[in-house]
Amino acid sequence: MNEEILNQDIVNEIAALKQEKDAVILAHYYVRPEVQAIADYIGDSFYLSKVAANLDAKTIVFAGVFFMGESAKVLNPGKTVLLPDMKADCAMAHMADVATIQKMRETYDDLAVVCYINSTAELKQHSDVCVTSSNAVKIVKALPNKNIFFIPDRNLARYVAAQVPEKNFVFNEGYCPIHEQILMNELHEVKAAHPQALVLAHPECKKELLDEADYIGSTSGIIDYATNSDAKEFIICTENGIRYELEQKNPDKQFYFTKTEPVCPDMKTVTLEKVRDVLKYGTNDVQVTDKLREESQKPLARMLELGK
Ligand code: 13P
Ligand code: SF4
Repeated sequence: MNEEILNQDIVNEIAALKQEKDAVILAHYYVRPEVQAIADYIGDSFYLSKVAANLDAKTIVFAGVFFMGESAKVLNPGKTVLLPDMKADCAMAHMADVATIQKMRETYDDLAVVCYINSTAELKQHSDVCVTSSNAVKIVKALPNKNIFFIPDRNLARYVAAQVPEKNFVFNEGYCPIHEQILMNELHEVKAAHPQALVLAHPECKKELLDEADYIGSTSGIIDYATNSDAKEFIICTENGIRYELEQKNPDKQFYFTKTEPVCPDMKTVTLEKVRDVLKYGTNDVQVTDKLREESQKPLARMLELGK
């Protein structure tokens, strides 16, 4: 049986299982194109958390990495949240620690601990508010506190700090390995090959790359910018799964990546087969203890409120 027919069989199976189990599928822009194609909702982290907070369906299948499924469960304790691959994790989500948060709280008065959503529920539990790349500037500006300890991502933190100079930022040394590894010489190569192209970058990229960007934003921000722009060529500095939606929305435009395309292996472990299997067998049911849920729900709810 060829792969296309096989995929169509799995797609049909998933459609039937979704009805049977009263399920919806949420997918991040970094997962494989064939998984984005069968999703009910695709988006950036902020959009997906808003969707997750307001769903009627009994079951949510989250095609993404663990912190995404965990946040969806925290926002929907009464629903079943299934993760196609429990081992799909975000390396950056673990790059901060509770002892340092406590130390910062003792060191600085009037401190807000601002936690990027790409983090474990344990880190959220000890934070005052969550943010995503699309609402971080707005939310930090809205906080009454003078001092901001921003975890885990140092690159997003520096990008936000530059736009909120009235606050004092304390940085944490976390980073996304996928965005940090985008090579400047490869960016210069692709710019030289396509001098007309605009550079659109995710704020998880390092500062020297962001300094060369024409636009900086979340995955949705990048897609909207390219879609609304009169330009025809773009160099995209983020994970290559975003290409699917960029091309769907802009068949007349050209999108280039650096030669070593940024790929998040964890996002790519989510396959159609795994989506089908969790729906079929009810496996990989995300569980969060009551205490962790109650305490990590607060900064997420505050993000949804302040991000409105
Ligand atoms: P956004 O889609 O919110 O921009 O997040 C990027 C990311 O790294 C998710 O893991
Ligand atoms: Fe985490 Fe980076 Fe992968 Fe996003 S791309 S899930 S930040 S490791």
